[in-house]
Amino acid sequence: MFDQDDLEQECIKEYNLGQISLKIKSKSMHIGVSRSVWKASLALAQYLNTNSDNFDVMKEKQLQILELGSGPGLSGFYASRYFKDSKVFLTDICIKSLNLIKENIDINKEVLNQNQLSVDFFEWGNFTRSSENEEHYQNKDEFPTNYEGQFDLVIASDVVYIPEFLDPLLKSIQYFIKPQSGRCLLVNNKIRQDLFIDKFDQMLLENKLDAFVNEEFDMDEDKFRVFIMRLKD
Ligand SMILES: C[S@@+](CC[C@H](N)C(=O)[O-])C[C@H]1O[C@@H](n2cnc3c(N)ncnc32)[C@H](O)[C@@H]1O
Repeated sequence: MFDQDDLEQECIKEYNLGQISLKIKSKSMHIGVSRSVWKASLALAQYLNTNSDNFDVMKEKQLQILELGSGPGLSGFYASRYFKDSKVFLTDICIKSLNLIKENIDINKEVLNQNQLSVDFFEWGNFTRSSENEEHYQNKDEFPTNYEGQFDLVIASDVVYIPEFLDPLLKSIQYFIKPQSGRCLLVNNKIRQDLFIDKFDQMLLENKLDAFVNEEFDMDEDKFRVFIMRLKD
């Protein structure tokens, strides 16, 4: 029998954005998608750098930032450098991804401030800890239960691709962002996002989310769709 780990190929690649250089270890596999760096995560970091108007005002503050579906952690790491005084919670449902994020924090310890970063298990739409998952919650401070409406910024890249996960994902954004001032920056590969073109707007409405920015963003040869959302009043 194959051990799934035998099918994984590991690599460390250097990424340079806004004069910040990060080395990210990732794993590619025959099945599953969680341990690769997806281009949308680079696009998210790039968007923060080049379209800073929407975020510059937030830079002055000590923010609480949450990343949903972090994978190996690239966009969360860049967010922690962009918003220097922030606390960034990187989350994923995949335990191996969480371990990879921790390895990547260690690999980049000269560049990242470890005190800014927290790595946690989170399954979209599941806001209650269960005994089954308790061991995976690293943060003893009752995350996610006590974090409703606590995040100034929620970020996520390349997370819109499985129809059943879309509603739990949007419910999670709605649950975590601060009323009024909270924002969510969601960046998806355009081709994948377009699969949901018919129902995405309606689903945002059902989840009380207002996408006040909904635009295409080009990086290299690729096209992405960027949403900046807030809670509807
Ligand atoms: C395509 S990857 C994107 C990873 C990373 N954001 C990037 O852009 O490189 C999607 C990520 O979402 C995570 N994910 C998928 N379904 C999830 C769920 N129901 N709850 C939490 N995380 C989930 C996967 O484990 C994976 O890390």
